[in-house]
Amino acid sequence: MTEYVVTGGTPLGGSIQVQGSKNAALPVLAAMATSDICVDISNCPSISDVKHTLQVLRMCGRQVEERAGTIRFTDCITETDISFPEICCMRSGILFAGAVLGNLGKVRICSPGGCDIGPRPIDLHLKAFESLGGRVKTEGDGIISIDGSRMAGSSLWLDYPSVGATENVMLCAVNIPGFTEIHNAAREPEIEELQWVLNSMGFTVEGAGTSVICIKGGRHSEVDYAEYNIEADRIVAGTYLTAIAATGGRGTVTGVSPDKLSSITDILERTGCTVETEGNSISVFTHGRLKRVRNITSGPYPGFPTDMQPQVMAMLASADGTSVIRETVFENRFRHVDELNRMGADILVRGDTAIVNGVPLLRGASVRATDLRSGAALVIAGLTADTQTRVCDNGCIDRGYADICGDLRALGANIYRLDDEDEMETQH
Ligand code: EPZ
Repeated sequence: MTEYVVTGGTPLGGSIQVQGSKNAALPVLAAMATSDICVDISNCPSISDVKHTLQVLRMCGRQVEERAGTIRFTDCITETDISFPEICCMRSGILFAGAVLGNLGKVRICSPGGCDIGPRPIDLHLKAFESLGGRVKTEGDGIISIDGSRMAGSSLWLDYPSVGATENVMLCAVNIPGFTEIHNAAREPEIEELQWVLNSMGFTVEGAGTSVICIKGGRHSEVDYAEYNIEADRIVAGTYLTAIAATGGRGTVTGVSPDKLSSITDILERTGCTVETEGNSISVFTHGRLKRVRNITSGPYPGFPTDMQPQVMAMLASADGTSVIRETVFENRFRHVDELNRMGADILVRGDTAIVNGVPLLRGASVRATDLRSGAALVIAGLTADTQTRVCDNGCIDRGYADICGDLRALGANIYRLDDEDEMETQH
């Protein structure tokens, strides 16, 4: 168990270079199971989901060599039964289904884990594989086996622009014969990064970033080496900008494309902040108490990202007036509300909508991180509170933030973490 000890009252300031993107790195690493060519991937964030993914690749047969800042992949995968515990502990584990299925013609996998923010089914993934001729068999205990011996490219429609289902079809279709078209595809920037990597490995994928993605099955250029540098994490950048605004500070995040955060910076401006961008840096300046934001609705990209909803709620918990936040992507993504209310927030949930009545000041408390972004939200709340807050966390925050304490301390925050071994040391 980890505890983040946060002492509020300090307006954040300064500049922080943002880590590589978790939600780009995970599909890009799954793509390492689509081919045996040598690939160097750099700027992967040092987070637990990446560590688990590298372990899965090793167990599949890929050689994985971690050097300073770069991970080299060689040799080929040979394992089709990948029902490993590492797959079950993270949502992105399901992406290995498409990669292995397309590459080796069959796969046996367990249902993925991930943040407890809703039921998180994989029906869209399985339906898509069946549209491509895959034969899906549910074995029970969450184990699924798919026979891909008769798979061929086809045109398919996603009932929802699912990020993971879009990525899974891309990872599978690059290795099956024929053309595949994904209609109602997700448009997140991370999907464009996946397309770029697949094409650099010799595959042919077009349309990422739009609702129609076309894949020409098979490799079409005899490349024997590829390299890619993961882009900065737009959600981590948004988290830190929100923390700066929430604490009444003025600071900058660097290394991230401003156009990928426009829905987030728009909300910051609606609170009365000034946002300035220059190249790959975004600065936010506050001017007194934040104003409420009347209506915020999360949705698929380029809409306001659900992954920023908890952090923005924590910021608005002490804004002037009542804000209304609607969560349309996940069914159970308000679990941070009870914890924020324990800190003196005044938030009411009605179905998919949270009514956030801003209070002058939150008070420090002992709270619990229920998932990755709720954990980050509670840290932000702690930074705005009058006394000390202790965020108890069972590894959620480490899944997406490489060093949230170090990053926030670089912006002037008073925060440190206690892990179990630290506790034991202090007790002796
Ligand atoms: C990805 O999850 C991200 N995770 C999530 O980030 C992010 O919140 C989400 O996309 C939406 O942007 C990774 O990239 C590793 P979806 P994913 O499939 O792919 C439903 C974070 O905090 N759905 O777009 O699981 C689903 O239940 C994490 O970094 C089905 O019904 O998201 C949800 O309601 C959290 N059936 C909606 O679609 C399916 O087969 C969107 O899910 C698949 C999804």
